[in-house]
Amino acid sequence: MKAQDGEPKKSGLTSFVYIAVAVAAIGGVLFGYDTGVISGAILFITGEFGLSPILEEVATSSVLVGAILGAIAGGFLADRIGRRLSIIAASTAFLAGTGVVVVAAGLPVFLVGRVLIGIAIGVASFVVPLYISEIAPSALRGGMVSLNQLFITLGILVSYGVDYLFSASGNWRAMFAFGAVPAIILIVGMFLLTSSPRWLVAHQQQDRAAGVLQKIRGTRDVSGELDGIERSVKRAGSWSDLLASSMRMPLIVGLGLAILQQLTGINTVIYYAPTIFQFAGLHSAGASIAATAGVGVVNVLSTVAAVILVDRAGRRPLLLAGIGGMVVSLAVLGAGFAFGGTVQGGNLLGLITAVSLMAYVASFAIGLGPVFWLLIAEIYPLNVRGRAMSVATIANWAANFLITLTFLTLAGVLGRAGVFWLYALVGIVAWFFVLRLVPETKGLTLEEIEEHFRAGRHPRELRGAPKQQ
Ligand code: BGC
Repeated sequence: MKAQDGEPKKSGLTSFVYIAVAVAAIGGVLFGYDTGVISGAILFITGEFGLSPILEEVATSSVLVGAILGAIAGGFLADRIGRRLSIIAASTAFLAGTGVVVVAAGLPVFLVGRVLIGIAIGVASFVVPLYISEIAPSALRGGMVSLNQLFITLGILVSYGVDYLFSASGNWRAMFAFGAVPAIILIVGMFLLTSSPRWLVAHQQQDRAAGVLQKIRGTRDVSGELDGIERSVKRAGSWSDLLASSMRMPLIVGLGLAILQQLTGINTVIYYAPTIFQFAGLHSAGASIAATAGVGVVNVLSTVAAVILVDRAGRRPLLLAGIGGMVVSLAVLGAGFAFGGTVQGGNLLGLITAVSLMAYVASFAIGLGPVFWLLIAEIYPLNVRGRAMSVATIANWAANFLITLTFLTLAGVLGRAGVFWLYALVGIVAWFFVLRLVPETKGLTLEEIEEHFRAGRHPRELRGAPKQQ
């Protein structure tokens, strides 16, 4: 396989690409902020609306239901109106949802707003990595797409900070209102940006696509890349194409990673960190908040490492090392709970619990966190890319919903140690899944990856571009 098939050799370092990627990645902030903000806000909402524990769960998880709906709708939107307009539509829905939540006088209206926000997040969660993957040069694509995940983790961290800021006054409406800031930046920014050249070709706008490619590659010689894109566009796409035999392995890889990313338990930590720290004996609110902020910071810093490493080390080494770290830290975390994590006050096992939780988040952030979203933006053919990504994203949000709803019940049934050991077991399955089935896409153009799967070849035979390119 030729490296860099079609893509101009000296491509990719125009400031335009950096700006486009940075703006699009703000979509990650929406995702992170609105999944994180509820953890602090829910305490006050429960009080104001007088919610029972069940209604509290409904209020918390409504955003996930919306996200599943958004992931369904996003598949149509991204392939029909394009990646850029889909992101603009999602941010607008996000603003509208935020407005509804901020003025809600009771639970029903609040839920409408949260579902609307969820729909927006469901669309943005995969259309942003999709858009970035289609404008980034292949040698830098991994890091650029992973910026989306970095912005998700920043959004989560900022939401913890904003929650903290307004918790003294109990002003939960202000907590949500803050989310409007990235949404407005995203709408304005995306209006100024260009459509993805791949989507333009798919919609018979070759001249515009050529102009965009010249701009983002910083060279006039884009005919090779354009040819490659045109070749993959020639095959018309429809939902039934997802059932083609050449799609089977890419779908299994995407769906498997989507589900395993969630069933290894990351969001029990993101959504319930303070509760877990209380389980572990950190009873003061201050200690719990500090530890939760620690989780947020570790998540951001490890994602920075992933952004830097993913185009050098490759996708598979990060996944294998990251999942390995998750399994070990989950096993230790379970042991902490089994053998003394609940003993009060500064004990060694309490400390082990806190450290293993941080190690777990760091391991997720270096591997499964960013690399899942990256791979699903890389492994599907152009003509069904939006739809195929939407299927993987639906599975991801549905599995997220399942884990979020079952965590506290499972902790009751299996015990606190048992639930983390269960996630560790799923982690072992995930490790072998990656070992046997996940391709290495480092440095390859999207068209090269597409050709590989079109030829019906196994994902593991895809080994990334040779070093010298
Ligand atoms: C996951 C989210 C998770 C976040 C945490 C994302 O990759 O899809 O479910 O909350 O990472 O950083």
